Amino acid sequence: MTTATRTHHLTVTKIGGRLGAEIGGVRLSGALSEETIAQIRAALLTHKVVFFRGQEHLDEAGHEAFAQRLGELVAHPTVPSADGRYSLGIDSHHGARANQWHTDVTFVPAYPAFSVLRAVTVPPYGGNTLWANTATAYSSLPEPLRALADRLRAVHSNEYDYAALRPDAVPEALAQYREVFTSTTFLTEHPVVRVHPETDERTLLLGNFVQRISGLTGRDSRTLVDLFQAHIEAPENTVRWQWNVGDVAIWDNRATQHYGVDDSDEHERTLRRVTVDGDVPFGPDGRPSVLLSPETVPAPAFGIPSGASTAVGSAG
Ligand SMILES: [Fe+2]
Repeated sequence: MTTATRTHHLTVTKIGGRLGAEIGGVRLSGALSEETIAQIRAALLTHKVVFFRGQEHLDEAGHEAFAQRLGELVAHPTVPSADGRYSLGIDSHHGARANQWHTDVTFVPAYPAFSVLRAVTVPPYGGNTLWANTATAYSSLPEPLRALADRLRAVHSNEYDYAALRPDAVPEALAQYREVFTSTTFLTEHPVVRVHPETDERTLLLGNFVQRISGLTGRDSRTLVDLFQAHIEAPENTVRWQWNVGDVAIWDNRATQHYGVDDSDEHERTLRRVTVDGDVPFGPDGRPSVLLSPETVPAPAFGIPSGASTAVGSAG
């Protein structure tokens, strides 16, 4: 049995037991054929995170043009982009390190469906990224825990403890990052189990934007979050990627969490992220996620508000 499947010029090679595949034989651009895009999308839904080496030809515009083939692009709700359009800088010298397990932007209801990350500058060692499969984290739970998770909802917010996350950060830099990141404070209630809109898989929807489990007090809430989060983060449920310049990773943000390992000391590490608009999650009971605050998701500095392209009745 081979682990690589060849379809036309594209190879898909599984690199982890639970998730992750490397795709070869494709030069990413906005001009790829419908067939190639369909193959990439299918691999992405199956493997949750896919990797491409050797895409150094991509600049901000090329990165966006390719990502646009997966859906409508959406800027971060509060953090200004690197290019004035969609591209978000993930830069080791600023506040945006991601060394906590999370799903991107879950503090809004219709958080991104896909993230497309491109390595611009990589450190000589460390700075890897880990991804975890939140569908297998759910399906491998013992039945009583699945039944419990199915009934829970959780409040997510972009207001959390930055100082605890970055104890060594310069206070001024931390305060500035916090001010920008939480220029609007969002509170969103999501089901803890999200039914995936394309694969119908049940996935655990938690991560570092979770404030509490709805209806529970502090300690009970934390205990339950830790219990489920431990199944997500289990090493067997993850895949790890060591970045080279020109690598591109795409993940299904509705079926994964990720973690940027902060172990490259003071070496520069610069990645660019573009996100594709997602839809409002719903739980096993069909109840959708609800924005608790503010009243609506404001439009970012560029482009559409989160979820605008997928809203019921929207043109696209
Ligand atoms: Fe992230």
